[in-house]
Parts: sequence; C-alpha cells; structure tokens
Amino acid sequence: MKILVIGSGGREHAICWALQRTSSERLQLFCAPGNAGIAQIAECVPININDHYELASFAEASRIDLTVVGPEAPLAAGLVNTFEERGLKVVGPRSEAAGLESSKAFAKDFMAHHSIPTARYRVATSFDEADAILKSGEFGGEQAAVVIKADGLAAGKGVFVASDRGGAFAALNELRHGVVGAEAARRIVIEERLTGPEVSVLLFSDGKDYRLMPAARDHKRIGENDTGPNTGGMGSITEASIIDSATLDRVVREIVEPTLKGSRDEGFPFRGILFIGLMLTPDGPRVLEYNVRFGDPETQAILVRLKTDLAKIFAAISERRLGQLKIEWSQDSSACVVLAARGYPSQAETGATIHGLERIEQYQDVYVFHAATSRAGGEWLTAGGRVLGVTATGENLDVALSRCYGAVREIQWDGMQYRRDIGRGSRRKPRPRADFKRVV
Ligand code: AMP
Ligand code: GLY
Repeated sequence: MKILVIGSGGREHAICWALQRTSSERLQLFCAPGNAGIAQIAECVPININDHYELASFAEASRIDLTVVGPEAPLAAGLVNTFEERGLKVVGPRSEAAGLESSKAFAKDFMAHHSIPTARYRVATSFDEADAILKSGEFGGEQAAVVIKADGLAAGKGVFVASDRGGAFAALNELRHGVVGAEAARRIVIEERLTGPEVSVLLFSDGKDYRLMPAARDHKRIGENDTGPNTGGMGSITEASIIDSATLDRVVREIVEPTLKGSRDEGFPFRGILFIGLMLTPDGPRVLEYNVRFGDPETQAILVRLKTDLAKIFAAISERRLGQLKIEWSQDSSACVVLAARGYPSQAETGATIHGLERIEQYQDVYVFHAATSRAGGEWLTAGGRVLGVTATGENLDVALSRCYGAVREIQWDGMQYRRDIGRGSRRKPRPRADFKRVV
C-alpha cells in the first residue's frame, strides 16, 4: 500500500512512524515535503503543500492509495476538495468542515446554533465595534476578564487572554497593528474568560461513526509554570486522570455527538481527525476551539499508544466504514517534551549542530520525532523553532516522564531550550485530610 502524508513537522513524523510500526502489510510511505527525520522512514517529495494541483498530480502519477493531510492551512484551502474531485482517496475534512478551525466566528456560531457549550461571545467586524462591545460593559466593567481572538488562522498567535479591560484594549491594539495579518483579524471574537484545566479530545470520524483517541494535555506557553508567550506547544501528555469517565461521557453527549451531528445537518459531514480543545470549568466542559486535524505535539504522545493498524484506520475513514473497526490503545501513559531552538517562538536560530541523537536508540520506549532538522556532512542540524519531540511511554505518567527527561539529557545543542515541568501540573493533588477542611 502506498500512502502520502502531507506536512513537515513532528506530527507528520509521528504519523509516518505509527503507520510503519502498526502496519500488518508492507507500506510504501511518501511525505510532502517532510523533513530530515521523516526521510529516515519515508520518501520525502519536495512539493509545496499549498500547491494542490501538484500534490494531486503526484498522487495520481505515483498511484498513491491514500493521502493523509497533517496541517490546517491546506485543509482550509480545499486540498481535500481537490483530491476528491480527482477521485483520489484522502483523509481530512473538506474546506467547508475545515471552517470549524479556520474561522473562530464560524465555529462559535456553529456551537451556538447546535447548543454546544462554549464561552459566551460576540463577533465584531471592525476594531471600533470591538472597542464599543468592551466599553458597553456586557462582559463586565473595568475588571472584565475576556479573551480576544482573531477570527482566522494565526498559528496560535491570535489569541489574547486578558485579566481586565485594559488588557483587552491592549490585545485589540496588537491585532490592529498587524500581529497576525489583516485577513485573520478582519473579524474579532470577544469571549468571556473561563477557568479550569484544559483537555484535548481527539477523534477519528468518517462522517457517520467516530472513535475517540486517549485524551491529551498540551503545554502551550514557552516558559515553565505556564509563563511567557504562547507557542505551537512545548509538550504533551496522555494519562487516564486527565479526564474522568463521567466527565468524558458528558463531553461525548454534550459536545462530540452534537458537533458531528451538527456538521451532518449543515451539509458538511466531518471526515478526518477532529481535535476539540476543552476547558473543564466548574459549570461543566466547555469548548475553547476546534482543530480539524491532529494536534502537534498531542499526536506524538497519542500515537505511541496506538496498537491498531493506522493505515487500516485511515482507509476505514476514507471508505466510510469506521463503524466496523475496533481501535486499541496501550494502557500506558505517555509524554512528549519539545526541544526548541533559542529565540523560539519569535525568531528562532537555525543551523546549530545537534549532539547525542544517536545515543537515544538504546533507550527503551523512547522515540524522537523530528519537527525541524536537516542533515549536513553526517551531522544533524536545527532547522526551525520546534526541533525535536522526545516522546516516551510508561506504565504511569511518572515513568513516561522520567524516560523522556532521561533521554533529553543526552541531547544538546547551542541554544536548546525546553520546559522541565511537562506533566507536572497534571498530577492529582493529594486530598486534604478531613480535619483540615475549613467549615464555612
Ligand atoms: P484557542 O486557540 O482558541 O484554543 O486558544 C488558545 C488558548 O487560549 C487556549 O488553549 C486557552 O488556554 C486560552 N483560551 C481560549 N479561550 C479561552 C477562554 N474563553 N477562557 C480562558 N482561556 C481561553
Ligand atoms: N497543540 C495544539 C495544536 O496543534 O494546535
């Protein structure tokens, strides 16, 4: 079977790796454009992911059986539409369904229409209107805690969490001055700020049936203890305690099923991988965002636990027979620690020599996924902001984390930065003893 994976990050490396590892038949893997790490297990094809015509022509000429799309931009721009119109099998939503990620205003209106719990919101079509909404007091007075979001795709740079009205005006100013580009900020979503732990629930869907993946948690900020600017994600974990089964049942009933039904009712049945970013608030789970693809670096931590043949899952999605498939996951926990280059997330340095990668091979249950590396003269070099995702499984989260950090200690380059607290905030706090409870 010939499979083409589109994208070039750690997520795509993990997808290629999981395809190879779980496959019961011989796979021939291609990745466009891929990266130096991916090139160890797949044939990298230098085609721009925005060139849909070229990609489809390559798939036709090379008799690719199935194409899987990693990143959001080509999905939003209709790559799946192009492939389907040319009769090519592909996993991912069409552009209509990709609107759930590419327009936050569209996603919020969709949720409102289908009674899917999410933060209260307003959409402004100009900065003046956004100003007026904030001044009107409908989100509270001077102390109003709101979140300001650019409507369009902004690689995580278009969301500002403000603690008061002054912060909200400052966020609007950033958008006004073009921090994410005029098109993404053409509309602005203002929402109430929620509180609670965050959970990512990902699922496979063929438009009719769906299968959940193990719940994951991302670590978005660059700095330890969740400080500093947002990034694409500095680490991720999966473990059973991220979400209890009663809450997960509620997420399925109130969010997953209404979302999939809503997409069918509106004429864009969701096919592909749906990622639901949730906040578990005191009032119940609320949707923060939809992504219409695998998350990065959630995918690395999730796919190391997959036991079922991933190529068969993808084939079942594209042939609309996911309902017949049982998907199995290991009972382990897992973690992924991202190693980033100096300067990330603003201006990352590239071209540093990476030392120690060859020593990781001896580590049990540790996998290094490459997000941005290149090869020169037999050496590995950094080639972007997020460089590697060191990923491990273990019988519990502590074991997975100590395997990750043990391997991280072997790797080094000038300017390497990473968070030492991945998964730390996730451990259950010990229950206070009853006699310590304050009676109010
Ligand atoms: P988004 O891209 O919409 O998921 O937002 C990025 C991050 O901003 C989320 O992972 C949250 O940490 C935070 N965030 C988004 N919306 C809200 C909200 N309504 N309340 C609190 N935090 C939020
Ligand atoms: N880790 C979040 C994302 O992929 O958007």
